[in-house]
Amino acid sequence: MITLFESGQHKSFLFNDLSMGSMVQANQHIIVHGGEAMMLDPGGHKVHSQLFAQIASAVPMRDLKHIFFSHQDPDIIAAANAWLMMTDAQAYLPSLWMRFIPHFGVDELVISRIFPIPDEGMTIDVGGVGLKVIPAHFLHSAGNFQVYDPESKILYSGDLGASLGAPYDRVENFDEHIQYMEAFHKRYMPCGKALKMWAAMARELEIEMIAPQHGAIFATPELAQRFIGWVETLSCGLDLMGDRFVIPA
Ligand SMILES: [Fe+2]
Ligand SMILES: [Fe+2]
Repeated sequence: MITLFESGQHKSFLFNDLSMGSMVQANQHIIVHGGEAMMLDPGGHKVHSQLFAQIASAVPMRDLKHIFFSHQDPDIIAAANAWLMMTDAQAYLPSLWMRFIPHFGVDELVISRIFPIPDEGMTIDVGGVGLKVIPAHFLHSAGNFQVYDPESKILYSGDLGASLGAPYDRVENFDEHIQYMEAFHKRYMPCGKALKMWAAMARELEIEMIAPQHGAIFATPELAQRFIGWVETLSCGLDLMGDRFVIPA
């Protein structure tokens, strides 16, 4: 567990070593304020059992009142039922995915505790602090949100800013870090327009740190701005594809 922010009653913790075997490395975040906690993108079943045990070192389980799902991927939501059964937390999910999640086996007893996030986003009150759930649609999922914490000024960017295989937790040298992000962004992100829309919004935020759901964090305002500048001009997805798909021989 890594403490990303601590000031008075506001704390932010990162769990980044719970993935195993062939599963993609994923980060789990917890934001604590005023006796309540929100967990971001809790991950799948194997992560669940470990995280449930470790979480107690950061926060009493009864304080876990909110669970945020940025989108519908299995590395986000596969253990939704277990989390809802073992806590009394409310969960928040992009409205676009509400009818799909029951296919993961979410029990009828707890499904009423999953609330849809409208397309325009929302503010979630966690122990008295308003966490901004901001739209980042198509980055990479069609219904996709990020969380901005105005107290710590951390932007939790989900799959945007993800890196795979970097041998460190915090980016030190942005240029050397590009090699761990580039292939992922070029294939999973849909097109430059979505990236430009996001960059324009991100520039309106005061950002101390960008914390993605995979890989290393951008832990200074300078590195956060380097990332925004890099992704803003990146060609990706459809930009890089030809005019037609080709039937395999
Ligand atoms: Fe994803
Ligand atoms: Fe992911």
